[in-house]
Amino acid sequence: MADFKELVFSGVQPTGNLHLGNYLGAIRRFVQLQESRDCIYCVVDLHAITATLHQPDLRAQTREVTAAFLAAGIDPKRHIVFNQSQVPQHAELAWIFNCVARIGWLNRMTQFKEKAGKDRENASVGLYDYPCLMASDILVYRATHVPVGEDQKQHLELTRDIAQKFNNDFAAEIAERGFGDAFFPLTEPLIGGPAARVMSLRDGTKKMSKSDASDNSRINLTDDAEAIAQKIRKAKTDAEPLPSEEAGLAKRPEAENLVGIYAGLADTARADVLAEFGNAQFSRFKSALVDLAVAKLGPIGQEMSRLMADPGHIDAVLGDGAERAGAIAERTMAEVKDVVGLIRR
Ligand code: TYM
Repeated sequence: MADFKELVFSGVQPTGNLHLGNYLGAIRRFVQLQESRDCIYCVVDLHAITATLHQPDLRAQTREVTAAFLAAGIDPKRHIVFNQSQVPQHAELAWIFNCVARIGWLNRMTQFKEKAGKDRENASVGLYDYPCLMASDILVYRATHVPVGEDQKQHLELTRDIAQKFNNDFAAEIAERGFGDAFFPLTEPLIGGPAARVMSLRDGTKKMSKSDASDNSRINLTDDAEAIAQKIRKAKTDAEPLPSEEAGLAKRPEAENLVGIYAGLADTARADVLAEFGNAQFSRFKSALVDLAVAKLGPIGQEMSRLMADPGHIDAVLGDGAERAGAIAERTMAEVKDVVGLIRR
């Protein structure tokens, strides 16, 4: 396999209600990775319109995700932060990938099945095709690593399948044009840590999600200290004290979730949390969790509101990022056209 420069890419949809799962599963890890790698972080507004096209708050939501990136500590000068629709090559490469991916591959996507529900005939074609656009987001930069929550694993496998098939189908053209034995890298997912799958505070068997009808099911990044405390105090638990070993969390989804959230926020392992709180009643553990969550999330929420008050600044960050991302994407797309045999200007 040809050598690819290490590059991190990830995206977050501006669909409102950015929550603790998005933070622990993704954004917090974006911040950590920027210390050691070059990173591109994207607000994927074209993905956001796949489930519901008409969203009166789309602009505000796009700015809110950007504000969350910045408030969490992503440096938009050293790295790239932008919104997807400003770089048209994402959609352009997605078309090529529509012709690479097979219908059978997309038919296996569990997220489409979940999101489309029973009324599949009425889902948008965009929702079905979501993973091809996602592959294009990543591969238009030839990104080698993608930090995401666990729910995105299958989409990243599809991204690798698309890269592999493109590399195979055009092997002769790729070699002939000096790209060696691979045009696209086989991107590696970075999924892990104690909070790769944060669950609902109301039901430990359901993922914490932006679209859950109950606001008490999630901690939003814009929640104030009071709301964070209330939601944690109300969070579902069981009747037993916490176990002192990880094995004791089996079949206790709510306990496991709260311990995972604590570990994620404290940046430790579940085992360390249990070493400290083993045999504690939930009331004691929850108070410690409230303190920790307020200390970690409070400043982010406050900084988000400060940034949101100046949309001009956010738009300038996005514009600058789009220009730098666009320069890379344009080059890749020109090369793709040459490899595929499309005559270009
Ligand atoms: P989105 O906006 O739905 O989610 C953003 C990120 O948050 C993670 N996440 C979670 N992690 C842990 N626990 C949860 N309950 C939880 N809920 C969400 C998601 O895994 C994701 O990392 N399809 C992507 C957006 C996307 C993308 C990309 C990502 C579009 N193109 C290219 C990476 C690379 C998504 O689900 O966004």
